[in-house]
Amino acid sequence: MRAFHRYVHRFLFTITSAAVILFLAFGLFLFYDRSTRINSDTLRDELGFINVLIRSVHDHARLGNRESLEAMNKAAEEARRALPPRFFDSGTETFLHQLADSPSEEELRAAVTELGGIARRISASYYENREQSRLVFIGFGLSMMVLVGILLALALRFHLEHTRYVGRGAKLLESLERILNFESENIDFSPRWLEEEELLRQVEGIAAAHRSNRELAEHRVYGTLEAFIPRMREILSHSVPCDRLAVAFVDTAGHVIAESASSVLPVTHLEPGFIEELKDTSLGSILTSRKTRIINDLPRHYEEIHQSESTKLILEEGIRASITVPIEIQEIMAETTRAFVSLMERKDNETSLHIIRMSRYSYILARELAKSDSSITPMMLREILWFAPLHDIGKIGIPDRVLQKNGPLDGRERSLIEDHVNIGLSVIHSMNSGVNRIIDLELLNTAENIIASHHERFDGTGYPRGLAGKDIPVSGRIVALADVFDALTSKRPYKEAFSIDKSMGIIEAGLGSHFDPDVYAAFLKALPEIRLVYDRYKEI
Ligand SMILES: [Fe+2]
Ligand SMILES: [Fe+2]
Repeated sequence: MRAFHRYVHRFLFTITSAAVILFLAFGLFLFYDRSTRINSDTLRDELGFINVLIRSVHDHARLGNRESLEAMNKAAEEARRALPPRFFDSGTETFLHQLADSPSEEELRAAVTELGGIARRISASYYENREQSRLVFIGFGLSMMVLVGILLALALRFHLEHTRYVGRGAKLLESLERILNFESENIDFSPRWLEEEELLRQVEGIAAAHRSNRELAEHRVYGTLEAFIPRMREILSHSVPCDRLAVAFVDTAGHVIAESASSVLPVTHLEPGFIEELKDTSLGSILTSRKTRIINDLPRHYEEIHQSESTKLILEEGIRASITVPIEIQEIMAETTRAFVSLMERKDNETSLHIIRMSRYSYILARELAKSDSSITPMMLREILWFAPLHDIGKIGIPDRVLQKNGPLDGRERSLIEDHVNIGLSVIHSMNSGVNRIIDLELLNTAENIIASHHERFDGTGYPRGLAGKDIPVSGRIVALADVFDALTSKRPYKEAFSIDKSMGIIEAGLGSHFDPDVYAAFLKALPEIRLVYDRYKEI
């Protein structure tokens, strides 16, 4: 394509130069031709008058009659009228008047001599004019040549600049090629012409898009969402204006849970942990269609199409347009949890609703505590929500006759039950090492803490390690309270469901001995939300 442009340019350059030269040469010819022709025409006419006058003088001298006198005077009158006065001197003027009367032979001879003088003057004037025309012609010709020279020089300069422009453009493209081949990072090019500026802008655009793609490709796929999301937003913002990037998960019970978010906006209203029923959002159709949704006018979408709490919160943050992309993740943990819950439903008296409630309670407590405890990160919040359901995973290794026994347990049976913690730990360890082989990450630390310490007591009398106070991981202290609270408020084969108030009384009695008072304080603060979960996931 570039070669083609070069040929077109050269062709146009040659044609234009040739046309200009031909045009000027033709003009010059016309000018010369015309100026000389005017001179010779005038000469012919002027000499014609003189010729007629001389002939009439001769005729009159020979004939001497009235007709020849009139013809001579008529010719004299015409000559006087037609010839420029510069050819006459004062003598000539007088002599022409004298011709009107009957002139003597001598006077006629003098008139002829005088007319010969006029003819000589006319002829001299003609040559003078011709000389002037030639000078003008040479002058004009020279200036035309100078003009053509200037035009050629300009055209040549333009030609060279164009060639250099093409060369510089090629260099720019070369540096783009280097960037695309990962050989360089920068475009070292300072534009001189507007076209180059435009070309540079386009090349920089391509390079930026390429850098984004490259950064995306090189970014570690495995990592925590908390680390990944802000980086991803940064990379995306190279090519798309992106003020907020967030991930929400849809759980097995049909909830949308807002997860890690990265935002450049000063306030965040839709925070990680925000839960909304999938059916109340407009995300369901995206999940079904598996198509990306773009909303260009979010306020209008909210007013006219669909009102959801999450959209309202995002609008309050200042977001005005959104792109939503459905991502299907084969979530090992979600699958495992689901399998575990159905297993436990058959094996123990725990129901899937117990699992949902106690994990939500745990999550609410953790979120409340996180307000004053920065060690509870959003990642830990998510892990508590995900992994709290696994707290009793070790019960799969406990014989049914012990697990399902109605009535008091003897010491051996009790220690068998207590062993569910160690069994659970070995399950999670083997899972953790399996996961580690793939992703090199301590993904299940929180799960491990929850399983290991949900039977520890705040005064150190719990099992299996007898940890006390804040030595018990916070996730364990949270799950312990949430698990017991749900057991108290639920119906079990050996007891009725206690009211919330009664259950809270029992827990209060165990503060400092069984439960962490700080966790209970968080419980009190979050009580309205706890009640919402309690009401929503009641056993029917
Ligand atoms: Fe347990
Ligand atoms: Fe439990």
